Amino acid sequence: MRIRPASRLRGRVQVPGDKSISHRAAIVAALARGTTRIENFSTSADCASTLGVVGALGVSVERDGATVRVEGAGTDEGPPRFRPSRQPLDCGNSGTTMRLVAGVLAAQPFASVLTGDDSLSRRPMRRIIEPLELMGARVSSVEGCAPLRVEGRWPLEPVRYEMPVASAQVKSCVLLAGLGARGSTQVVEPRGQTRDHTERMLASFGAEVATDWPRTPVPSPSGRRVVVTLKGPAHLRARDVIVPGDFSSAAFLVAAAAMLRGSDLQVDGVGLNHTRTHLLRLLMGLGAYLKVDLASGEGCEPVGSIRVRGERELVPDPEDFPPVAGWGPNGETGSNVVRGQAVAQVIDELPVLAVLATQVRGGLEIRDARELRVKESDRIRAVAENLRAMDADVVELYDGLRIYGPTRLHGARLQSFGDHRIAMAFAVAALAAEGESEIVGAEECVQISFPEFFPLLESLTER
Ligand code: S3P
Repeated sequence: MRIRPASRLRGRVQVPGDKSISHRAAIVAALARGTTRIENFSTSADCASTLGVVGALGVSVERDGATVRVEGAGTDEGPPRFRPSRQPLDCGNSGTTMRLVAGVLAAQPFASVLTGDDSLSRRPMRRIIEPLELMGARVSSVEGCAPLRVEGRWPLEPVRYEMPVASAQVKSCVLLAGLGARGSTQVVEPRGQTRDHTERMLASFGAEVATDWPRTPVPSPSGRRVVVTLKGPAHLRARDVIVPGDFSSAAFLVAAAAMLRGSDLQVDGVGLNHTRTHLLRLLMGLGAYLKVDLASGEGCEPVGSIRVRGERELVPDPEDFPPVAGWGPNGETGSNVVRGQAVAQVIDELPVLAVLATQVRGGLEIRDARELRVKESDRIRAVAENLRAMDADVVELYDGLRIYGPTRLHGARLQSFGDHRIAMAFAVAALAAEGESEIVGAEECVQISFPEFFPLLESLTER
């Protein structure tokens, strides 16, 4: 994919349905009794993997464009009536599919095998194996990685599980297993809340699930421990779902518009769940012009519109980016640091934030983001290598990146590393650069989350 520089982005768009929420809608619908109609289902290859896996378990799934109908296998008593699959269940590139479905299969009275592509087969799975085994399932792996063989059991034992890594996938895995446990399953998030789509989806399908932090637009304060409690065994009832637009897809367009002077972009119908939208708070702290309107929706997820204008240089407000004493390796004071529990709430947006940082006065430092090393690619390395190729000044840290700014980026030959978010982040970088860029493998890998990305970006671009 070749990308020429742009002067600005202008227009009003909607992005396809949220990937995280679509996975959950399909999985929870499969567990429920009755027929669920899901509208605005994600167009991503990852969510197609989830539908494929659910179908392979004997659940009837019909898809007509963005509308999906799922005949759930739920019952009033006992486990849902899934059919064991003779073939391995192929999760493709999708960590969410593998980790969430493993939770479901842990509470089925049969064994299943979960496989994925090369990237997924390198990603850490001990984080789900440990809690599922504590609940009474048996999970074998290849040194902590896929393929996974899940020997399920019904009912499982409930657990109180304190998560060693901040991961919504691990939390969701335990909660989905908890549906088949006799008693209260608890997940403790010691350093603040990760995305809570599973909790919301389960509650709307009739599960008794409670979070000790109110579901308001107010984020849990930094470092606060959050406990989610789910009562099992739960018997879910089908209901219709409308999936909001994907904030993480919109984020690439929003970041590009904030970076390119003269841009004026509005994204409508986008999910505004506060556990996902930390990027907006960071952009505000950099002085970007943003207008966020929350529509009064009926569904279980907040939805609204985001308008962003590229009006001025991005300058960190010291109130939002206070200097951090003793932060550097020799106890020096750092400034413009993004770190702590907020990192989990901006995890998928960090590659594009790193690109944006090249245009921020004083740059940005991203820390506490070691998880980026075990995403679809090692995103810390991928970002550092590509930024360097564009002549940015960047230091790779074990748990993040230090990016100096503002710098002039130069068009270059870039790698996607087979990672959709790296491809899209560097498409944004290429718009802001001097000279043309090429991103190797970009068109294929954006299919994973946002197949419409390149044509949509092109339709908004003014040169
Ligand atoms: C996701 C959770 C996050 C995120 C991923 C989607 C989810 O992963 O990076 O893109 O849908 O639960 P982790 O739970 O591994 O942090």
